[in-house]
Amino acid sequence: MFMMSDYVKISSSFFYEDLFTSLQDGILVVDNDLKIILFNQAMEEISGISSSQVIGKSLNQVLKFNSYINDLLVKSFQTGKSYCDLECDFYKEPSISSFIVSLIIVPFINRNGDIKGSIASIRDISRLKELEKDDQMAKRLSSVRELAASMAHEIKNPLSGIKGAAQLLKHELSDDKLKEYTDVIIKEIVRVNEIVEGLMNLTRVRSPKFELTNIYTILDEIINLEQGTSKGKKVKFHKYYDPSIPSIMVDSDRLSQLFLNLIRNAVEAVSKDGEIIITTKVFSDYLLGNKDKKSSRTMLIEIKDDGPGIDKEVMKKLFTPFVTTKKKGSGLGLAISHRIVEEHKGRIKVVSEEPQKGTIIQVFIPINQQ
Ligand SMILES: Nc1ncnc2c1ncn2[C@@H]1O[C@H](COP(=O)(O)OP(=O)(O)OP(=O)(O)O)[C@@H](O)[C@H]1O
Ligand SMILES: [Mg+2]
Repeated sequence: MFMMSDYVKISSSFFYEDLFTSLQDGILVVDNDLKIILFNQAMEEISGISSSQVIGKSLNQVLKFNSYINDLLVKSFQTGKSYCDLECDFYKEPSISSFIVSLIIVPFINRNGDIKGSIASIRDISRLKELEKDDQMAKRLSSVRELAASMAHEIKNPLSGIKGAAQLLKHELSDDKLKEYTDVIIKEIVRVNEIVEGLMNLTRVRSPKFELTNIYTILDEIINLEQGTSKGKKVKFHKYYDPSIPSIMVDSDRLSQLFLNLIRNAVEAVSKDGEIIITTKVFSDYLLGNKDKKSSRTMLIEIKDDGPGIDKEVMKKLFTPFVTTKKKGSGLGLAISHRIVEEHKGRIKVVSEEPQKGTIIQVFIPINQQ
């Protein structure tokens, strides 16, 4: 039985308003004419519409881009049924991409048991879903990495045996043509060895050496390096650095490797006169995918190129070792990058939605590393 305390009675005119405003879930209530009678602040944020614009309006005018929710509210009112633990896409506008929400719809029943309308409780769970996806990917990658590294370990020893034998053979041979063959063997062994080293790098237990680092020095060094070696391409780099970002605690060698991989991928993707934009920003309350889910100040480094974008099939397997579309690529760059971002308790996100619209890689690094 619901009882009102004296406090509630005294302040009853504000009590329910305060209550609904405090809720983090969007609440929408319709009456028996399917007109909106309550639309709380969280609902304003989710829908992007202010309550003053919708109170008294008909439901299908307000939720016109969200017919699924609209229909359930009508059904719940007509049948007295509740719909719990649903998930659906929510559209602010048809042209803008949707985000995922959790949904509970119940009939609005008065104390006499009469149905007076229906109620929707809606929560934006897009961030949660993203974190879940990251978590699943991290688990999958970790097992792939374990397997790859143990194979690499097994390959490394016989490889050095083959290399030694090929070198001895070369020494013994007098025929130059045959010597050329042994050179090929040795060259290819060196290449395989590099791949093996890269794989072992993926799982090597090595705690990062955090030191105060100016991230822009790292980015500028890599940009200069890549500008000089972009193989006949006249790639234009544009930099939009947030000047408020202080030096941050990171492993500078590992971050150099990370940004070299990402910027090199961008350079390799763009055409002869391609453009690469590097932007940095600070988020003060970005929730990271770490286990304790604490909020912290986070730096975003974004690398955007105007290349062909990433193929949908490649996108599904991105960050997995040996996934490559390049003739001479090893497919280890992004796998290693993911590992480095993990070591910094950060996140890496790739956006490449439309073909020919380029690629955006976002790296989030917490500013206060512990
Ligand atoms: N900026 C980008 N634009 C288009 N495709 C990209 C981009 N970055 C990565 N890719 C795709 O992802 C694949 C994997 O990238 P990754 O860096 O892991 O390996 P790679 O560049 O092929 O080889 P490696 O980095 O080991 O030399 C690439 O082969 C390419 O198909
Ligand atoms: Mg690469």
